[in-house]
Amino acid sequence: MSSLTPWPKPCLGSGKTHLLGVFGDPVAHSLSPVIHNLALNLLGLDYRYLPFHVPPERLHAALQGFRALGGTGFNATVPHKEALVPWMDELSTAAIRAGAVNTVHCTDIVVGHNTDGHGFLAALKEKRPDLPQGAKVLVLGAGGAARSVLSALLETQCEAIFLANRTPDRAQSLAQFFASYDSDHRIKPMALDVERLPWEEISLLVHTTSLGLKGETSLPVAFHRLPTHCFVYDIVYGRPDTLLTRLATRHGLQSMDGLGMLIHQAAAAFTLWTGHDMPIDAIRAYLTHLGKPS
Ligand code: ATR
Repeated sequence: MSSLTPWPKPCLGSGKTHLLGVFGDPVAHSLSPVIHNLALNLLGLDYRYLPFHVPPERLHAALQGFRALGGTGFNATVPHKEALVPWMDELSTAAIRAGAVNTVHCTDIVVGHNTDGHGFLAALKEKRPDLPQGAKVLVLGAGGAARSVLSALLETQCEAIFLANRTPDRAQSLAQFFASYDSDHRIKPMALDVERLPWEEISLLVHTTSLGLKGETSLPVAFHRLPTHCFVYDIVYGRPDTLLTRLATRHGLQSMDGLGMLIHQAAAAFTLWTGHDMPIDAIRAYLTHLGKPS
Protein backbone atom coordinates (compact mmCIF):
# COMPACT_ATOMS: atom_id res chain seq x y z
CA MET A 1 0.00 0.00 0.00
CA SER A 2 2.75 2.42 0.94
CA SER A 3 4.15 2.43 -2.62
CA LEU A 4 0.80 3.60 -4.02
CA THR A 5 -0.07 7.24 -4.48
CA PRO A 6 -2.09 8.17 -1.37
CA TRP A 7 -5.81 8.66 -1.89
CA PRO A 8 -6.80 12.31 -1.62
CA LYS A 9 -8.22 13.07 1.81
CA PRO A 10 -12.00 13.22 1.46
CA CYS A 11 -13.50 16.55 2.45
CA LEU A 12 -15.87 15.30 5.13
CA GLY A 13 -17.80 17.18 7.74
CA SER A 14 -16.86 16.57 11.35
CA GLY A 15 -20.34 15.72 12.63
CA LYS A 16 -20.34 19.16 14.21
CA THR A 17 -20.00 20.96 10.90
CA HIS A 18 -22.23 24.00 10.56
CA LEU A 19 -24.22 24.26 7.36
CA LEU A 20 -24.39 27.46 5.31
CA GLY A 21 -25.58 28.01 1.76
CA VAL A 22 -27.29 30.08 -0.87
CA PHE A 23 -30.82 29.56 -2.21
CA GLY A 24 -31.38 30.70 -5.80
CA ASP A 25 -32.97 29.85 -9.12
CA PRO A 26 -30.64 29.72 -10.99
CA VAL A 27 -27.78 29.34 -8.54
CA ALA A 28 -24.95 27.60 -10.41
CA HIS A 29 -23.36 30.90 -11.46
CA SER A 30 -23.11 32.20 -7.87
CA LEU A 31 -19.66 33.15 -6.60
CA SER A 32 -20.89 33.08 -2.99
CA PRO A 33 -19.82 29.44 -2.34
CA VAL A 34 -16.29 30.31 -3.53
CA ILE A 35 -16.13 33.41 -1.35
CA HIS A 36 -17.47 31.81 1.82
CA ASN A 37 -15.68 28.46 1.60
CA LEU A 38 -12.40 30.22 0.91
CA ALA A 39 -12.90 32.46 3.95
CA LEU A 40 -13.94 29.48 6.11
CA ASN A 41 -10.86 27.52 5.03
CA LEU A 42 -8.54 30.46 5.62
CA LEU A 43 -9.88 30.86 9.16
CA GLY A 44 -10.10 27.10 9.82
CA LEU A 45 -13.79 27.23 10.72
CA ASP A 46 -15.86 24.03 10.71
CA TYR A 47 -18.57 25.22 8.34
CA ARG A 48 -19.53 24.31 4.75
CA TYR A 49 -21.33 26.65 2.32
CA LEU A 50 -23.33 24.98 -0.46
CA PRO A 51 -25.37 26.25 -3.43
CA PHE A 52 -29.01 25.07 -3.31
CA HIS A 53 -31.14 25.25 -6.44
CA VAL A 54 -34.52 26.21 -4.99
CA PRO A 55 -37.39 27.01 -7.38
CA PRO A 56 -39.93 29.55 -6.08
CA GLU A 57 -42.61 26.94 -5.33
CA ARG A 58 -40.20 25.06 -3.03
CA LEU A 59 -38.90 28.09 -1.13
CA HIS A 60 -40.90 27.55 2.04
CA ALA A 61 -40.21 23.80 2.11
CA ALA A 62 -36.51 24.53 1.59
CA LEU A 63 -36.50 26.95 4.51
CA GLN A 64 -38.20 24.40 6.75
CA GLY A 65 -35.87 21.62 5.60
CA PHE A 66 -32.80 23.79 6.17
CA ARG A 67 -33.97 24.55 9.71
CA ALA A 68 -34.81 20.89 10.37
CA LEU A 69 -31.21 20.00 9.45
CA GLY A 70 -29.92 22.53 11.97
CA GLY A 71 -28.44 24.84 9.31
CA THR A 72 -26.87 28.05 10.59
CA GLY A 73 -27.88 30.37 7.81
CA PHE A 74 -28.13 31.01 4.10
CA ASN A 75 -28.06 33.73 1.51
CA ALA A 76 -30.92 34.34 -0.86
CA THR A 77 -30.50 35.44 -4.42
CA VAL A 78 -32.86 35.94 -7.37
CA PRO A 79 -35.85 35.36 -7.20
CA HIS A 80 -36.21 34.81 -3.44
CA LYS A 81 -35.20 38.04 -1.73
CA GLU A 82 -38.65 39.57 -1.47
CA ALA A 83 -40.53 36.26 -1.16
CA LEU A 84 -38.65 35.36 2.03
CA VAL A 85 -39.84 38.43 3.94
CA PRO A 86 -43.18 36.99 5.19
CA TRP A 87 -41.51 33.74 6.34
CA MET A 88 -39.12 35.43 8.77
CA ASP A 89 -39.78 35.54 12.55
CA GLU A 90 -37.84 38.80 12.74
CA LEU A 91 -36.40 41.25 10.24
CA SER A 92 -33.40 43.56 10.65
CA THR A 93 -33.93 47.26 10.05
CA ALA A 94 -32.07 47.00 6.74
CA ALA A 95 -34.32 44.14 5.58
CA ILE A 96 -37.44 46.07 6.55
CA ARG A 97 -36.20 49.16 4.73
CA ALA A 98 -35.27 47.27 1.58
CA GLY A 99 -38.36 45.04 1.72
CA ALA A 100 -36.03 42.17 0.88
CA VAL A 101 -33.86 39.58 2.61
CA ASN A 102 -30.47 38.41 1.31
CA THR A 103 -29.19 36.76 4.50
CA VAL A 104 -31.09 34.43 6.83
CA HIS A 105 -29.77 33.52 10.26
CA CYS A 106 -31.37 30.49 11.91
CA THR A 107 -31.22 30.32 15.68
CA ASP A 108 -34.25 29.47 17.84
CA ILE A 109 -35.97 31.84 15.50
CA VAL A 110 -35.26 32.76 11.90
CA VAL A 111 -34.05 36.30 11.31
CA GLY A 112 -33.94 37.99 7.90
CA HIS A 113 -31.18 40.50 7.22
CA ASN A 114 -30.20 42.54 4.20
CA THR A 115 -26.48 43.16 3.74
CA ASP A 116 -26.69 44.32 0.09
CA GLY A 117 -27.08 48.00 0.95
CA HIS A 118 -24.08 47.83 3.29
CA GLY A 119 -22.09 46.06 0.55
CA PHE A 120 -23.06 48.70 -2.00
CA LEU A 121 -21.87 51.60 0.17
CA ALA A 122 -18.78 49.89 1.62
CA ALA A 123 -17.47 49.09 -1.87
CA LEU A 124 -18.18 52.65 -3.06
CA LYS A 125 -16.36 54.10 -0.01
CA GLU A 126 -13.25 52.11 -0.92
CA LYS A 127 -13.06 53.63 -4.40
CA ARG A 128 -14.66 57.02 -3.86
CA PRO A 129 -14.85 58.03 -0.19
CA ASP A 130 -16.15 61.46 -1.29
CA LEU A 131 -19.35 59.90 -2.69
CA PRO A 132 -22.32 59.99 -2.49
CA GLN A 133 -22.32 63.02 -0.12
CA GLY A 134 -23.82 66.03 -1.87
CA ALA A 135 -24.10 64.11 -5.15
CA LYS A 136 -26.95 63.89 -7.58
CA VAL A 137 -27.25 60.19 -8.25
CA LEU A 138 -28.89 58.53 -11.24
CA VAL A 139 -30.10 54.98 -10.58
CA LEU A 140 -30.96 53.04 -13.73
CA GLY A 141 -33.55 50.30 -13.12
CA ALA A 142 -36.29 49.84 -10.54
CA GLY A 143 -36.32 46.07 -10.12
CA GLY A 144 -35.30 43.94 -7.15
CA ALA A 145 -31.66 44.97 -7.35
CA ALA A 146 -32.51 48.67 -7.09
CA ARG A 147 -34.19 48.26 -3.69
CA SER A 148 -31.10 47.85 -1.54
CA VAL A 149 -29.30 50.56 -3.49
CA LEU A 150 -32.12 53.05 -2.85
CA SER A 151 -32.42 52.03 0.77
CA ALA A 152 -28.68 52.57 1.28
CA LEU A 153 -28.59 55.85 -0.64
CA LEU A 154 -31.40 57.26 1.47
CA GLU A 155 -29.19 56.81 4.54
CA THR A 156 -26.48 58.99 3.03
CA GLN A 157 -26.19 62.72 2.45
CA CYS A 158 -26.70 62.49 -1.30
CA GLU A 159 -28.61 65.43 -2.72
CA ALA A 160 -31.02 63.75 -5.14
CA ILE A 161 -31.75 60.30 -6.54
CA PHE A 162 -33.12 60.20 -10.07
CA LEU A 163 -34.72 56.79 -10.46
CA ALA A 164 -35.09 55.96 -14.16
CA ASN A 165 -36.85 52.86 -15.41
CA ARG A 166 -38.08 51.55 -18.77
CA THR A 167 -41.47 51.00 -17.12
CA PRO A 168 -42.04 54.32 -15.32
CA ASP A 169 -44.84 52.91 -13.14
CA ARG A 170 -42.34 50.59 -11.50
CA ALA A 171 -40.06 53.53 -10.63
CA GLN A 172 -43.10 55.33 -9.27
CA SER A 173 -44.11 52.41 -7.04
CA LEU A 174 -40.59 51.97 -5.72
CA ALA A 175 -40.44 55.68 -4.85
CA GLN A 176 -43.81 55.21 -3.15
CA PHE A 177 -42.45 52.21 -1.22
CA PHE A 178 -39.63 54.37 0.15
CA ALA A 179 -41.79 57.47 0.76
CA SER A 180 -41.77 57.08 4.54
CA TYR A 181 -37.92 57.15 4.56
CA ASP A 182 -37.76 59.97 2.04
CA SER A 183 -39.38 62.98 3.67
CA ASP A 184 -37.27 65.36 1.49
CA HIS A 185 -38.53 63.65 -1.69
CA ARG A 186 -35.01 62.94 -2.84
CA ILE A 187 -36.14 60.01 -5.00
CA LYS A 188 -37.43 61.34 -8.31
CA PRO A 189 -39.00 58.57 -10.39
CA MET A 190 -38.84 58.99 -14.16
CA ALA A 191 -38.91 57.20 -17.48
CA LEU A 192 -35.65 55.82 -18.88
CA ASP A 193 -35.77 58.34 -21.72
CA VAL A 194 -32.18 58.99 -22.79
CA GLU A 195 -32.99 62.33 -24.39
CA ARG A 196 -34.64 63.74 -21.28
CA LEU A 197 -32.55 62.48 -18.35
CA PRO A 198 -30.43 65.15 -16.58
CA TRP A 199 -27.06 63.57 -17.47
CA GLU A 200 -25.07 66.82 -17.06
CA GLU A 201 -26.00 67.01 -13.34
CA ILE A 202 -24.98 63.48 -12.36
CA SER A 203 -21.95 62.74 -10.14
CA LEU A 204 -22.76 59.07 -9.53
CA LEU A 205 -24.41 56.72 -12.02
CA VAL A 206 -25.60 53.39 -10.62
CA HIS A 207 -26.71 50.66 -13.02
CA THR A 208 -29.10 48.02 -11.66
CA THR A 209 -30.90 46.78 -14.79
CA SER A 210 -30.30 43.37 -16.29
CA LEU A 211 -29.04 44.95 -19.53
CA GLY A 212 -25.62 43.67 -20.54
CA LEU A 213 -26.11 40.21 -19.05
CA LYS A 214 -27.49 38.67 -22.24
CA GLY A 215 -24.96 39.82 -24.79
CA GLU A 216 -26.35 43.32 -25.39
CA THR A 217 -23.79 45.69 -26.88
CA SER A 218 -25.28 49.08 -26.02
CA LEU A 219 -26.91 50.73 -23.02
CA PRO A 220 -29.38 53.61 -22.65
CA VAL A 221 -26.67 55.92 -21.30
CA ALA A 222 -25.62 59.26 -22.84
CA PHE A 223 -21.96 58.89 -21.82
CA HIS A 224 -20.91 62.00 -23.74
CA ARG A 225 -23.31 64.13 -21.67
CA LEU A 226 -22.03 62.95 -18.28
CA PRO A 227 -19.56 65.27 -16.50
CA THR A 228 -15.96 64.02 -16.59
CA HIS A 229 -15.98 63.65 -12.78
CA CYS A 230 -19.02 61.35 -12.84
CA PHE A 231 -18.33 57.95 -11.26
CA VAL A 232 -20.00 54.95 -12.89
CA TYR A 233 -21.01 52.00 -10.70
CA ASP A 234 -22.33 48.74 -12.16
CA ILE A 235 -23.72 46.52 -9.41
CA VAL A 236 -23.12 43.31 -11.36
CA TYR A 237 -19.62 41.93 -11.70
CA GLY A 238 -17.91 40.88 -14.87
CA ARG A 239 -14.79 39.02 -15.80
CA PRO A 240 -12.76 41.04 -16.55
CA ASP A 241 -15.31 43.88 -16.95
CA THR A 242 -18.99 44.57 -17.64
CA LEU A 243 -20.57 46.21 -20.67
CA LEU A 244 -21.10 49.39 -18.61
CA THR A 245 -17.58 49.62 -17.16
CA ARG A 246 -16.11 48.90 -20.61
CA LEU A 247 -18.17 51.68 -22.22
CA ALA A 248 -17.44 54.07 -19.32
CA THR A 249 -13.69 53.51 -19.68
CA ARG A 250 -13.99 54.12 -23.41
CA HIS A 251 -15.56 57.49 -22.60
CA GLY A 252 -12.83 58.38 -20.08
CA LEU A 253 -15.02 57.89 -17.00
CA GLN A 254 -13.93 56.25 -13.75
CA SER A 255 -15.98 53.14 -12.97
CA MET A 256 -16.30 49.98 -10.90
CA ASP A 257 -18.24 46.75 -11.17
CA GLY A 258 -20.12 44.87 -8.44
CA LEU A 259 -17.32 42.62 -7.21
CA GLY A 260 -16.58 44.83 -4.20
CA MET A 261 -20.30 44.96 -3.35
CA LEU A 262 -20.52 41.18 -3.60
CA ILE A 263 -17.56 40.73 -1.25
CA HIS A 264 -18.75 43.28 1.29
CA GLN A 265 -22.31 41.94 1.45
CA ALA A 266 -20.82 38.46 1.91
CA ALA A 267 -18.48 39.70 4.64
CA ALA A 268 -21.38 41.15 6.63
CA ALA A 269 -23.34 37.87 6.35
CA PHE A 270 -20.21 35.88 7.30
CA THR A 271 -19.82 37.89 10.51
CA LEU A 272 -23.50 37.43 11.41
CA TRP A 273 -23.18 33.64 11.07
CA THR A 274 -19.69 32.96 12.40
CA GLY A 275 -18.83 35.96 14.58
CA HIS A 276 -15.56 36.31 12.61
CA ASP A 277 -14.34 38.97 10.18
CA MET A 278 -13.99 37.76 6.63
CA PRO A 279 -10.41 38.12 5.30
CA ILE A 280 -11.60 40.52 2.61
CA ASP A 281 -8.22 41.32 1.01
CA ALA A 282 -7.37 37.65 0.50
CA ILE A 283 -10.80 36.96 -0.99
CA ARG A 284 -10.53 39.91 -3.35
CA ALA A 285 -7.04 38.87 -4.44
CA TYR A 286 -8.29 35.35 -5.18
CA LEU A 287 -11.36 36.52 -7.13
CA THR A 288 -9.40 39.08 -9.08
CA HIS A 289 -6.92 36.35 -9.99
CA LEU A 290 -9.86 34.14 -11.10
CA GLY A 291 -10.95 36.90 -13.46
CA LYS A 292 -7.63 37.03 -15.28
CA PRO A 293 -7.62 35.20 -18.61
CA SER A 294 -5.31 32.17 -18.29
P1 ATR B 1 -33.46 42.40 -10.63
O1 ATR B 1 -33.97 41.71 -9.40
O2 ATR B 1 -32.16 41.84 -11.13
O3 ATR B 1 -33.44 43.87 -10.50
P2 ATR B 1 -35.89 42.59 -12.12
O4 ATR B 1 -36.65 42.85 -10.87
O5 ATR B 1 -36.49 41.71 -13.16
O6 ATR B 1 -34.49 41.98 -11.79
O7 ATR B 1 -35.54 44.00 -12.79
C1 ATR B 1 -34.82 44.11 -13.96
C2 ATR B 1 -34.58 45.59 -14.24
O8 ATR B 1 -33.93 45.69 -15.51
C3 ATR B 1 -35.86 46.39 -14.35
O9 ATR B 1 -35.61 47.72 -13.95
C4 ATR B 1 -36.15 46.31 -15.84
O10 ATR B 1 -36.97 47.33 -16.35
P3 ATR B 1 -38.58 47.11 -16.39
O11 ATR B 1 -39.06 47.34 -14.98
O12 ATR B 1 -39.06 48.11 -17.34
O13 ATR B 1 -38.79 45.69 -16.84
C5 ATR B 1 -34.74 46.48 -16.37
N1 ATR B 1 -34.63 46.02 -17.76
C6 ATR B 1 -34.62 44.74 -18.17
N2 ATR B 1 -34.50 44.69 -19.53
C7 ATR B 1 -34.42 46.00 -19.96
C8 ATR B 1 -34.28 46.63 -21.23
N3 ATR B 1 -34.19 45.91 -22.36
N4 ATR B 1 -34.23 47.98 -21.28
C9 ATR B 1 -34.31 48.71 -20.15
N5 ATR B 1 -34.44 48.18 -18.91
C10 ATR B 1 -34.50 46.84 -18.81
